[in-house]
Formats: sequence, C-alpha cells, structure tokens
Amino acid sequence: MRKYLMAGNWKMNLVPSEAKKFAQDLVKSIDKVDDDVVIMIAPTFTALSAVSEVVKGSLIKLGAQNMNENESGAYTGEISADMLLDSGVEYVILGHSERRNIYKESDELINKKVKVALNKGLKPVLCVGELLEEREAGKTNDVVKSQVVKGLQDVTAAEMGKVVIAYEPVWAIGTGKVATPETAEEVHAMIRSTLESLYGKDIAENTTIQYGGSVKDSNVDGLMNMTNIDGALVGGASLKVDSFTRIAQFQK
Ligand code: 13P
Repeated sequence: MRKYLMAGNWKMNLVPSEAKKFAQDLVKSIDKVDDDVVIMIAPTFTALSAVSEVVKGSLIKLGAQNMNENESGAYTGEISADMLLDSGVEYVILGHSERRNIYKESDELINKKVKVALNKGLKPVLCVGELLEEREAGKTNDVVKSQVVKGLQDVTAAEMGKVVIAYEPVWAIGTGKVATPETAEEVHAMIRSTLESLYGKDIAENTTIQYGGSVKDSNVDGLMNMTNIDGALVGGASLKVDSFTRIAQFQK
C-alpha cells in the first residue's frame, strides 16, 4: 500500500538547541497518525544527532536535507551518507530546487547522490519541479519528466521501494502561492505515468509522490485528497508545532 509522507524541511533554520526543543514539542504534539501516514523532519546537519535522540522510538522519522555523492575523502565541508546514517538518518532530501538553482546542482549530480543514498540504505526524496518561466512557456511536463528520468537513471525496480518523489513547483516555494490541488494533481499523474513507463504499473502505483510549495494547515486537506498526491514536503509551516501537527494529521 502506498503511504503518505508528511515531511518538514527545516532548511537553514533552528540551531541545535532550538531544534532539540522543537523536536521534543513535536513528539508530544504528534501523538497519533494513521497507519498509512509516515512523518519525517529534516533538520540541519549540525542538529541531526540531537534531534535523533529526541525522535527515537516516536512516530517521527529523521531526514537530512542534502548529502555528498562520494563515499568519503578529500571533500572539504561535505557530509557523506555514512555520516548521516551514523546520526540516525533514514531519509535524505536530494535535488531540492534551492540546491539546483542556488548551488547549480545538475540532474547528473543528483542522480549520483540518489544512487549512493540507495547503496548505503538511505531513502532518497528526489525533488523535481519547474520554474515560473518554464510553466508560463508550457514546458512543465517536459521539465519535470526529464528531471524524474535523469534523477532515476540506473535506479533498479527493486530499489524503487525506497524512493520518494517530491514535486515542488519552484514558483510555489516560500511564495504563499500554492498550486491548486487540480494543478498539482495533473503533474503528479504525469509523474506516475512516467514511473509506469520506466518501472511498470505496480511500482508506479506504490511510489509516494509528495507535493511541496506553500503547504499550510489551511490547504493540506484539499491537496492530500487528490488521487496522485501522497504527502507533503513542507518548509515554512513545518517550523510551527501547531501547524505541522495539523498538516501531519490532515483530514482524508
Ligand atoms: P515552503 O513550504 O516554505 O513553501 O517550502 C517548500 C519547500 O521548499 C519544502 O522543501
């Protein structure tokens, strides 16, 4: 059965002491989730160990926001898959639009990261999404499909059970301009049919495809009730205990 993944991407917010306190509050607040819902939070690297201690044994899983594509070595300032695993991380967000656009990460680089994550036993959350000018030029499907295909190159059918896709239209991130459920659903359905052409119907049907971009407690229910939307990757609204709790406990 396909699961909903309700995830908080904290981005570059909360120092470790704040992150620890916030995670403690969240563990108390999210005291129940439905069987088909998984909750994940992704703090900054320096807060991972502290947050890991807090969420151990709770309903909340731990994610990281990025990872280097090499196993180890002379890569000053970088963080490896093994380092994440040793900090208790289960999921890793890869190819976020801020990585693609600010740090110029290519599909090829993101694909390397996806494969290393899988080899190491991490669950990659592969982010895709079009820029405003690409949407306005009618290129949304081409752009997103290409990001999915290139991001998953050489990922096997057996590995797909661990892969999550996050559709985040760049024009909706941090802008308050959420995609309507119908607009998002169109792209999600296209992503699922792309997965079907790559891996067959069963795998496509079982892959979690999250939506991200200005998700809030006030719009989450409408989005989650669309056929092909299986969770949310939440930025701003994941930094408030009440709103993230409401998002995690969306109404079906
Ligand atoms: P906002 O929810 O702040 O728009 O951010 C979305 C996002 O980028 C999550 O990864």
